[in-house]
Amino acid sequence: MAQLWGGRFTKETDQLVYNFNASISFDQKFYKQDIEGSVAHVIMLARQGILTNGEKDEIVKGLTSICEDVENGTLKITGEYEDIHSFVEANLIDRIGDVGKKLHTGRSRNDQVALDMKLYTRSEVLVTDQLLKELLETLIEIMEKNIDTYMPGFTHLQKAQPITLAHHLGAYFEMFKRDRLRMKDIYARMNYCPLGSGALAGTTYPLDREYTASLLGFEGPTLNSIDSVADRDYLIEFLSALSTIMMHLSRFSEEIILWNSNEYRFVEIDDAYSTGSSIMPQKKNPDIAELVRGKTGRVYGALMSLLTTMKGLPLAYNKDMQEDKELTFDAIDTVKGCISLFNGMIGTMKFNNAIMEKSAMNGFTNATDAADYLVNKGVPFRDAHGIIGRLVLYCIQQNKSLDELSIEEYQKISPIFESDIYQAISLETCVQKRLTIGAPSEKAMQKVIASNKAYLAEEFEMRKERD
Ligand code: ARG
Repeated sequence: MAQLWGGRFTKETDQLVYNFNASISFDQKFYKQDIEGSVAHVIMLARQGILTNGEKDEIVKGLTSICEDVENGTLKITGEYEDIHSFVEANLIDRIGDVGKKLHTGRSRNDQVALDMKLYTRSEVLVTDQLLKELLETLIEIMEKNIDTYMPGFTHLQKAQPITLAHHLGAYFEMFKRDRLRMKDIYARMNYCPLGSGALAGTTYPLDREYTASLLGFEGPTLNSIDSVADRDYLIEFLSALSTIMMHLSRFSEEIILWNSNEYRFVEIDDAYSTGSSIMPQKKNPDIAELVRGKTGRVYGALMSLLTTMKGLPLAYNKDMQEDKELTFDAIDTVKGCISLFNGMIGTMKFNNAIMEKSAMNGFTNATDAADYLVNKGVPFRDAHGIIGRLVLYCIQQNKSLDELSIEEYQKISPIFESDIYQAISLETCVQKRLTIGAPSEKAMQKVIASNKAYLAEEFEMRKERD
C-alpha cells in the first residue's frame, strides 16, 4: 500500500478498505494528463519563485522520464498505489529524491483530479468530433450517389410518400451535424482550468493560475475554487451528448436491420460486417447494427448514474465523485467504437436501388399527389381527400395501384380526372415537384448537399486551437 497521507494515522488501512477506496485500476488511464498537469504546475511554481529553476528542471526531467517509461513499458502501473497521483509522486521521489517531495506544493488531489479528468475528456471530445466528421463524409458520399434513388418515406412505419435515399440519409446527416455542434459547445464551456483551486479554498502561495491555464491550452482559470473541485457538469453534458449520438445511431441501426431483412431487402450488409448462425446455415445476421442499438442503453446508464451520484453531494469534494471515472471512460470508448464500426458498415453496405424504387411505386405513396391534382383543378382539398380515399379503396378491392387504373375507372369516381393524371402521380413527379428547401427533389437536395459539403470543408475553431 503506497499512500500519500499516513501522518495522522496510527493504524494500517484494512486491506478491504484500501481496495475499496483505491482508483489506480481505472485512473491510470490518464497518467499522461496527470504528468502534463504536474509539469505545468511546476513550471509555474518556479516562475513565481516558489521553486528554484534547478528544482523545476529536476522535477520536469523526472516526470518526463516516468511518462516515457510508462509508455515504453519499462515502468508498470501496479495496484500497490492508491491512485495515479500517488503512483507518479512516489515514482518521482524514487527517481530524484527529496526534491520530488516539492511537486505537490500549493496543490491538492482535488484540483489535480479535476484537472486530469478535464484534460482527458477534453481531448476525447475532439476525437468524438473527428469520428462524427468521418461518418458525415461517408454519408454525403452515399447521398451524392443516390440523389435520384427513389424509395418510400414512412410514417408509423407505413408507406407515406415517395422520397429518395439521399433525402432519407440527409436526415441522419443533420442529426450527426448537431452532435458535432454539441461537441463544440461542450468544449468551449468546459475549457477552463481548475488547477490552483487547492482542496477547495485556493492556496496561500502566490500561484499564477492564468499562466498554468494558458500552458495547458485553456481559455482561462475557473473562477470559484469550491466549484472548481466540485464541478462535474461538463461530464454530464458530455455523457448527455454521447447518449444523443447513441440514440441517433440506434435509430439508424434499427432501420438498417429492417432494410436488411428478407421482407425489405432494401440493403445488403457486407459479409465483413455480418455474422452467421451456429445452427441455421442460411443466416447472415446484422449483429453490428444490433450491438450498436444494444449498447445505447449502456451509455444512457452512464448518464443516469453520474446524475444520480451528483445529486445529493454537499460542496465541495466528496469521494462519491471518484465514481465519475469508470462509467465515463466506458461510455466514451463505447461511443467511439460504435461510430467507427457503424461508419464502416454503411460505407460497405449495398443499396438495392431497384427494390427500393419498386417499393415506392406501391402502397399508394402517390395518393397525396393525386389529391393535389384535383385541388389544382379547383376541387377543395377536403373533397379531394375523400375522392382519392374512395379511389384507393376501389384499388384495394381490384388489387391494382393508382397508376394501373384506366381513365374510365378514374372518371367513374370523379369526372374531373383527365389523362394528365398519370403524369401527375408518377413517382418522378411526386419527388421532383417537391422543391421547397429540405424537400426530396433533386434540385432541392443538390443545394443542401452543396451547403453541407461546404460545412464539411471548414474546420471548427476548437480543432485549430489545439493542433
Ligand atoms: N481518486 C480520487 C478521485 O477520483 C482523487 C481525489 C482524491 N481526493 C481526496 N480528497 N480523497 O476523485
